[in-house]
Amino acid sequence: MTLSVSAPGKAFLIGEYAVLEGAPAYVTAVDVRAVAHEATAERPAASSAVVHCAHARVAQFLEGRGVAPSEPPAVETGGFTLGPRKLGLGSSAAVAAAVVGYHLARGGLDVTSPEVRAQALALAHAAHSEAQGGNGSGADVATAVHGGTIRFVDRKVEPITLPGWLSLGFVDAGAPAATSSFVHAVKSAQQRDPTRWREAMTMLREAAVAFGEALTHADRGGFAALRGAVELHVRGLRALQDVAGVPIVTDAIAGIVELCARAEVAAKPSGAGGGDLVVLFAPDRGAIDRLAEPLRQVGWPLLSELRAPSEGLRADERVPTVSRLAGFFKLSPAERRRAVAEATGLPPARLDELASARLDEAAANHMIENVVGTFELPLAIATNFRINGRDVLVPMCVEEASVVAAASNAAKMIRDGGGFAAHSDPPWMIAQVQLCRGSSEHEPTAVLAKVREHEAELLALADSAHPRLVGRGGGARAIETRVLADDMAVVNVLVDCQDAMGANLINTVAELVAVRLEAITGWQPGLRILSNLADRRRAHVSARIPPETLAGKGFSGPEVVARIVSASRFAELDPYRAATHNKGIMNGVDAVVLATGNDWRAMEASAHAWAAHDGHYGPLAIWREGADGYLEGRMSLPAAVGVVGGATQAHPVAKLALEILGNPTAAFLGQVMAAAGLASNLAALRALATEGIQRGHMSLHARAVAVTAGATGTEVEQLSTMLVECGEIKVERARALLQTLRTPAQPGRSPASRTTPEAK
Ligand code: MEV
Repeated sequence: MTLSVSAPGKAFLIGEYAVLEGAPAYVTAVDVRAVAHEATAERPAASSAVVHCAHARVAQFLEGRGVAPSEPPAVETGGFTLGPRKLGLGSSAAVAAAVVGYHLARGGLDVTSPEVRAQALALAHAAHSEAQGGNGSGADVATAVHGGTIRFVDRKVEPITLPGWLSLGFVDAGAPAATSSFVHAVKSAQQRDPTRWREAMTMLREAAVAFGEALTHADRGGFAALRGAVELHVRGLRALQDVAGVPIVTDAIAGIVELCARAEVAAKPSGAGGGDLVVLFAPDRGAIDRLAEPLRQVGWPLLSELRAPSEGLRADERVPTVSRLAGFFKLSPAERRRAVAEATGLPPARLDELASARLDEAAANHMIENVVGTFELPLAIATNFRINGRDVLVPMCVEEASVVAAASNAAKMIRDGGGFAAHSDPPWMIAQVQLCRGSSEHEPTAVLAKVREHEAELLALADSAHPRLVGRGGGARAIETRVLADDMAVVNVLVDCQDAMGANLINTVAELVAVRLEAITGWQPGLRILSNLADRRRAHVSARIPPETLAGKGFSGPEVVARIVSASRFAELDPYRAATHNKGIMNGVDAVVLATGNDWRAMEASAHAWAAHDGHYGPLAIWREGADGYLEGRMSLPAAVGVVGGATQAHPVAKLALEILGNPTAAFLGQVMAAAGLASNLAALRALATEGIQRGHMSLHARAVAVTAGATGTEVEQLSTMLVECGEIKVERARALLQTLRTPAQPGRSPASRTTPEAK
């Protein structure tokens, strides 16, 4: 097993700036990780300043103890970005910690032990300060090493446990700040106007102290004090901004803080300010998640998949996946399995199981009724995918030729522009209860007012159906009501399903709540079932492609951009085209849904219902030209998928597919599906808008015909080229050509020259 050591990113809860003057800071580790592992030819050693400094410090330390240091490691920081844009999650501190941890672990030390961590912190802090010019507090490095949540004061680290009543959220506020320039500006303000500087700093210090006190409250009554502390901190930052003349609380941050305040959620920038990350505090998860949609609508995504706190330094079982596998398509299936094992860090024997893994008859017989056998489809791996800086190999199960090749090819183009940017809504599904008037005298509006009066009680009732889900952080979040007709209304219960697709648990909620709704309203419950319009659980993906990457097939890059934009507009204006456009997207989406044992009918229903959500059936993905001439695509895809329950774990191939994906959360799986859909769409539009779809399809069709005719190994490629050249892609013709191909060549005659004259 390759040694791999990782360290988490961080988010400042409070104490920015004031920590440099000796005030306490509260910092939590977030679950994106810098990973240091053995360098190879494909993954060379990292060479940034922080890696260099960390390597030099730890080498010196080990040599002092008579241990020869190992070679510098490769370092990966996938997950610290939204697309190619870096988020302020402390990647350089995490890198310093991971590199130091890697060397210590190679020296035989346990990086989870308190003594080794103390040593790691000293080394990583020194290296990080050296690389950064020495103006940080070191709280970020301490969090990367220790993980969890810490109180950090005067370089002393105290682990703390956040109270159970507190929920955290993170919002992307756009362009990141150059932290060091803000710190410099604040330092020069201290010289220029010490009185105002001190006033601002005093507010920040008092806010941090009050925040710490609020955390000691045993119940959610502490939230009011915490909110007051966060508000004081924002006022302190504004005062600092005025005296330092740098935009610490940007318009975006101010907007987010205000929007959150209206929902009684406290918010402040996390880190130096100037954009980037905003941290949210609420007395329950639902309060934060309910802001996802309003925040997204004004352009500030809630990063609901970013969770805290996370573990500190640790040795990992797998190195991060590499998805750029040149020449993968040329390998045999057995060779590809080996390549996937190497690229994902999974044991080769586990991948080899794919050669024979299938649903056995007994399991199939338990899954559905009247079983007479099982049904097989090809499983393939799409390469080149990179989502938020993280490489991922995408398992796809599909019967249509060209889908996997096209998705891999488009993912490579998107990679040229920095890869996919993705984020997810909270995993909310909708339980519906239809209410029918029957003989009731109550008017529908009065009935729904009654439901809203009982909202808290109904949410608690829904939660009582799934205590384990609530224990895992999920549960009922909101009740929504609508009058549908004079004699009909609907009550939707929105439930956070965590990593489950949720159909069963939602149906249970619907049936349970319906009984109480009848008692409350006097109206009769009709249907009680989930909604397959999972519009509150979407995966949002976007991509940017440089025009030169798109050039080819006789067209310049800008021409291809213009043609794809025109193709997108065609789908936006014409539902007949939109249906085909979306079919191409679902080629990619469904292949991943199927490979991972998820419910593709649910995905299809949801996607097409969403495509018509504004009353007009339109394209799921749209494409435009960016100001810099790049092609920009984006899509929001309802992602009612899970990674627990159903066939996801019961089907041996689906289980393996999830392992290849790195055992993702349901949210990340949704992002992978959306990325596969957007890539498929790009590939189709590029082909359609240039040379047409048939040429590419024909060569893939020719391969299938060559195999049917009996070609094996390298013959497949040779024969399919011959078939395309002769323009007659038929099995009979392929058999004849195969015979010629197998006839021993006479000197001076190539296989191509052995084709019949009319084939040329
Ligand atoms: C074929 O499976 C999918 C396409 O028709 C999609 C499209 O037209 O965009 C090529």
